[in-house]
Amino acid sequence: MSEWSRKHLLGLSEMSKEEIEAILDSAKAFKEISKRQVKKVPALRGKTVVNLFFEASTRTKTSFELAAKRLSADVVNFSSKGSSLEKGETILDTLRNLEAYSVDIFVIRHNHSKAPFYLSTRTQASVINAGDGLNEHPTQALLDMFTVRERLGKLKGLKVAIVGDILHSRVARSNIWGFSKFSSQVWVCAPPTLIPKYYSCLPVKITYSLKEALSGADVVIMLRVQKERQSQMFFPSQREYSEFFSLNEENAKLLKEHSLVMHPGPVNWDVEIASCLKEKVQNLILEQVNNGLAVRMAVLYLLSIGKKYEVGS
Ligand code: CP
Repeated sequence: MSEWSRKHLLGLSEMSKEEIEAILDSAKAFKEISKRQVKKVPALRGKTVVNLFFEASTRTKTSFELAAKRLSADVVNFSSKGSSLEKGETILDTLRNLEAYSVDIFVIRHNHSKAPFYLSTRTQASVINAGDGLNEHPTQALLDMFTVRERLGKLKGLKVAIVGDILHSRVARSNIWGFSKFSSQVWVCAPPTLIPKYYSCLPVKITYSLKEALSGADVVIMLRVQKERQSQMFFPSQREYSEFFSLNEENAKLLKEHSLVMHPGPVNWDVEIASCLKEKVQNLILEQVNNGLAVRMAVLYLLSIGKKYEVGS
């Protein structure tokens, strides 16, 4: 892929394999830069990035801020708390007012699915989806794919098991689109109440058995139980959920030697993963966080400059 023509990054469902590869290749080059003593390049000097977060975030927000700074862009962090949204200003008016400062890129997280898409149709700036409701979290899936490609050397022909609160997970949806474009087989595993009916139309295998999901898996992505989005009881108790769907010392024996255990964070230890496995799995989870910075630098760069980043460019 020689030219990058996409203005916004809204989801992996609409992206080609070549576009995803361009992001992962550029991220590899940016990861090298982050190992240098001077971790900054002038690539986005003069550009303005606004992080527009209407929902809580630690990893995504800080890594987009750091990514913009490492690229020498000006960056502003906007949180809905303490803003004029509390006085009744709409999100569209908020966006338009901030755009008056000649913003180049808005990074948007919102609890409504498709909110970044809606705002992208009403601004001259580029929009990056930093997680929208139950829809997509494209940069999380990209950093997951980057981590897998770096660790296993490929994205093709893998068994990728996604376990947990599938119903409320935008991370699951983005990873399904991403990995399936590279001919990997994605499995989802959860109690039946946490797998939506429409999943039978997606390119996934569905199982309610953790044993079946873990057996022979190259990659296991454990998902957080999103209590804040659950309006009703989807399983009898947390204890019962953990008994059947938590990764523990016993069922981890089903994994292969090279299997990767990942989690987008934040982790509820002893709900999704037994805390006795913390020592074993935490390094890779933090590696995911670290890779998120390089991937977000790559996305900001490609949307701004329109070509793949290579060291020295
Ligand atoms: N994985 C993820 O999106 O984490 P944050 O909610 O902390 O950004």
